[in-house]
Amino acid sequence: MFRKWVSLAPRPVYYEKEFWYILAILIIGGLLVIIGIVAWNASLRKQVKSKTQQLENELYWHKKTQEQLLVEKERLLITIQSIGDAFISTDDKGTVILCNKQADVLFGNVISLGQNIHTLISFTEHRHNKKVDPVRECIESGGLVVYHHVECTCGQKTLDVSVVSSPVKFEDMLIGVVTIIRDITDMLAMQDELIKLQQFESLGILAAGIAHDFNNILMAIMGNAEILGLMLAKEKISKDLIDIVEGIKQSVKSAQSLTSQLLTYAKGGKPIKKSGNIIQLIKDTVEFVTHGTSVKVEYNFDSSVGNFDFDEHQLSHVFRNLTLNAVQSIENSGKLTITVKSLPEKPKGLELPEGQYVMITFTDTGKGIAPENINRIFEPYFTTKEKGTGLGLTTSLSIVKQHGGTITVSSSTKGTMFTIYLPKEEMPVEFVKDESVQPDLLDAFVLILDDREDILDVTSGMLEILGCHYD
Ligand SMILES: Nc1ncnc2c1ncn2[C@@H]1O[C@H](COP(=O)(O)OP(=O)(O)OP(=O)(O)O)[C@@H](O)[C@H]1O
Ligand SMILES: [Mg+2]
Repeated sequence: MFRKWVSLAPRPVYYEKEFWYILAILIIGGLLVIIGIVAWNASLRKQVKSKTQQLENELYWHKKTQEQLLVEKERLLITIQSIGDAFISTDDKGTVILCNKQADVLFGNVISLGQNIHTLISFTEHRHNKKVDPVRECIESGGLVVYHHVECTCGQKTLDVSVVSSPVKFEDMLIGVVTIIRDITDMLAMQDELIKLQQFESLGILAAGIAHDFNNILMAIMGNAEILGLMLAKEKISKDLIDIVEGIKQSVKSAQSLTSQLLTYAKGGKPIKKSGNIIQLIKDTVEFVTHGTSVKVEYNFDSSVGNFDFDEHQLSHVFRNLTLNAVQSIENSGKLTITVKSLPEKPKGLELPEGQYVMITFTDTGKGIAPENINRIFEPYFTTKEKGTGLGLTTSLSIVKQHGGTITVSSSTKGTMFTIYLPKEEMPVEFVKDESVQPDLLDAFVLILDDREDILDVTSGMLEILGCHYD
């Protein structure tokens, strides 16, 4: 009975095999989970450690870069402040974002950040008296804008400056403009002084040359006057007589031209410009010089050249020099070809301001200039001639430069070509005097005062012809 009871009681589970299997599986599974968690934890720790290391490294380099950037920024600012010219940096609208001390020194503390450079500073181009805006031009063109000589007004100050505006670009997009303004007042004064000094040095020799020419002209006047005297004595009044009187007048005009040339030099060499016809001036001068020589002259004139401003006396001196040199170079017979052409813009490769130019070439078929001499021909006193002063080309170049142009030369054994570039400018005519209206002098009474007997004689003679009374 007891055994029956015992056998009837349920068997404990640990007697069952499956129980131990499940337990073993559970224990192994649990162990595996714990090992997995430990391994994952270890890997996470490793990752966190390496990330932390990486971040620390990055932080270190970031700090280092920032420090370097600060040093570079400081250095850049010091460099900008040390520039001897005014430095103004603007954004793409012209708003000032940075400027250096020299800008304040130059314009007297009137530039402050945030102002607009277009309203702050105005530039006037010297030669054409035309307003220019290098910053705006730079923004619009996206390229470098350079003005070698402009008048700059900022606040109360007006200065002669050179200005360079360069674009600041980021990934091909213009983000601003950097403008450098240099005060050239001293440099211009120095240049003027140097020119004056050179002119004074050569003035003596120039005066001697002019006096020599002057003498020849006076001899012509004397000769014509003597012929006139002889003819009048014989009372042989004819057309020849009129021609001779015309000859006297022409010679006197040339003499007047020489005197005024001398005066021009005495005043510092500045051209006294007047609107005129360059073609006519060239023809008159060249024909005067080549008259009686075996040189054939050929003209090639561009009729569109028209009138522009130049100093007639000074330029006739240049054309006379070039023609004389050509005639002297053409030993026997040869040809001198003169061309005049209008250039709508400045010739390429020459350091000249922008604008329209007139190009004049004198090409001769003479013996040419030796290669070893070509770089020396514009030097004062350089001559290969027995009786040359070596000042012809020096003064010619100085005159053309005073007009704002230049002269270039090319030569071979077949001949020489001089090219003159003159800026084509014409001032607006404000007042035109009507010379044709003659005052009615008939029966007028004129009092003449002069300390020279010959002037009194001439004036009284003229007044008599005009029908006036004089005292
Ligand atoms: N057309 C030319 N052909 C050949 N050589 C020239 C020509 N023009 C100038 N030269 C050379 O250049 C030199 C300098 O010329 P420049 O006119 O200055 O003085 P110059 O003619 O010698 O003297 P000056 O003008 O006082 O008579 C000349 O001596 C000559 O050697
Ligand atoms: Mg000469």
